[in-house]
Amino acid sequence: MASTTQQKTTLLIDKEKQLRNAASEAEVSRIHASGRLTLSERIDLFFDAGSFVELDKFIAHRCTHFGMDAKKLPGDGVVTGYGKVNGRTVYLFAQDFSVIGGSLGEMHANKIVKCIEKAILSRSPVVGMNDSGGARIQEGVEGLIGYGKIFAGNVEASGVVPQIAAIMGPCAGGAVYSPALMDFIYMVDKDYARMFITGPEVVQSVTGETVSPMELGGAMTHNRQSGNAHFVAASDADCIAQIKHLLGFLPSSSKDTPPRYHCTDPVDRRAAELNTIVPDQGNKPYDMKALIRMVVDNGDIYEVQPYFAMNIVTCFARMNGETVGIIANQPMYLAGCLDINASDKAARFIRFCDCFNIPLVTFVDVPGYLPGTEQEFGGIIRHGAKLLYAYPEATVPKITVVIRKAYGGAYIGMCSGKGGPDMVIAWPTAEIAVMGADGAAKIIFRKFSAENKSRLVEEYKEKFASPYPAAERGYVDRIIVPDQTRPAIINALEMLRGKTVSTPDRKHGNMPL
Ligand code: HXC
Repeated sequence: MASTTQQKTTLLIDKEKQLRNAASEAEVSRIHASGRLTLSERIDLFFDAGSFVELDKFIAHRCTHFGMDAKKLPGDGVVTGYGKVNGRTVYLFAQDFSVIGGSLGEMHANKIVKCIEKAILSRSPVVGMNDSGGARIQEGVEGLIGYGKIFAGNVEASGVVPQIAAIMGPCAGGAVYSPALMDFIYMVDKDYARMFITGPEVVQSVTGETVSPMELGGAMTHNRQSGNAHFVAASDADCIAQIKHLLGFLPSSSKDTPPRYHCTDPVDRRAAELNTIVPDQGNKPYDMKALIRMVVDNGDIYEVQPYFAMNIVTCFARMNGETVGIIANQPMYLAGCLDINASDKAARFIRFCDCFNIPLVTFVDVPGYLPGTEQEFGGIIRHGAKLLYAYPEATVPKITVVIRKAYGGAYIGMCSGKGGPDMVIAWPTAEIAVMGADGAAKIIFRKFSAENKSRLVEEYKEKFASPYPAAERGYVDRIIVPDQTRPAIINALEMLRGKTVSTPDRKHGNMPL
């Protein structure tokens, strides 16, 4: 028994040594062979050198079933703590697959919940590296209750601190829902990283479908098809680097503003290419991402969900060193129409930016909502309403730049018209109308002769296919030469710095979901 101070200190050091998850050489080789980094390698890559403080190292499970009483599980299969990422405090929980498959029991869950609670208390972002076989089967209901506690923690943290999930291993059953409740999901594009509610065997037995684990729940499935994930990473190291990059755009909490960086790109830079980027033919596409790059600091954008609903672009960028959230129709896909997935994608991004004081810049070139039974039966009314809700709800500065088509309800959906934006800037190529001239002709000129019809179409274009009628009513604040876009946006952001909004007294709104 340790009785002197020195003995007690030695005892602590010994205990820590025993606890440290010193994976054997064989174990490290096995982990590396699978393509993964070890847990300690992941943690070292994430935090600034020497800054990580581990919490709850001495946690021990209480399970006695199926021989568990004889098992010591270092950290109960999860490491939690905080440290500095590029000088700013961030909380981390990282599951350890080498400890009983990173499975989640009572204490494992308690550690994660405590980590989230401390992140809320200290108003610091929380990152979860998920690598787990799900609820620890030997613990029975404790694992399930544990998930419930984590979900509640995620909900409590929502909108208070940024929450980022990385899928760096298997995630099945309840394990997928904590990531889904967080703000962003990264997935490593390797066969060890996947998410699904029920695996391929269950799918096969219930529906008869044959599907591989990667097809069902791999990185590209969730980045391209389901839209559950927001970012794809080529490796563990790339995933960690990308999370750190994202954190650089974000404030630590809803009470802070995003960090401001020294801007090396002149604020009054006029990109002459902008003057010719919109083709003369109305139906010809151009790359909206190229346009955005010409406007933002140093052409740098960090795209959110780049493979999902590609008809709308959502990305973080900086203007004069400050973070902005950009939403833009992409004419290269579905002519930039709004559809179910685009509405969901943009609405969620807008709400994130609003939670964390990130101004919104919207570039509009939208011919309308995507027509068709697939969209109507799929609930485009309900999904489209999310976007209509998210923009007016947002109280951060909102700047809209109308590039070309701004037709019908989709124009309002893209933060235009009364009630949405704080500043509407239009290019001379803007066409703000109920619909395009050809569509209008089919309805209001259908009884006219061909000759008269083409004259009336030209008249319609003359009247509405421009920013001037809207500007005459005061729905457009400025019409600018395209190359003035960067200085105009930076100027508007500066002007809106003091924006304050009082919202009605209510518990919360009832956003259509
Ligand atoms: C206890 C587990 C475990 C679990 C894995 N292990 N998952 N132990 N509970 N849930 C253990 C394995 O027994 C093994 O221990 C070690 O972890 C590594 O697992 P392997 O199977 O050897 O690894 P691999 O081949 O890579 O397969 C990984 C896996 C597979 C795909 C995750 O282990 C698996 O299918 N596990 C079960 C997944 C599952 O059904 N979980 C419950 C989900 S339901 P040894 O000692 O052999 O090394 C759920 C409900 C939550 O989570 C609901 C909340 C609302």
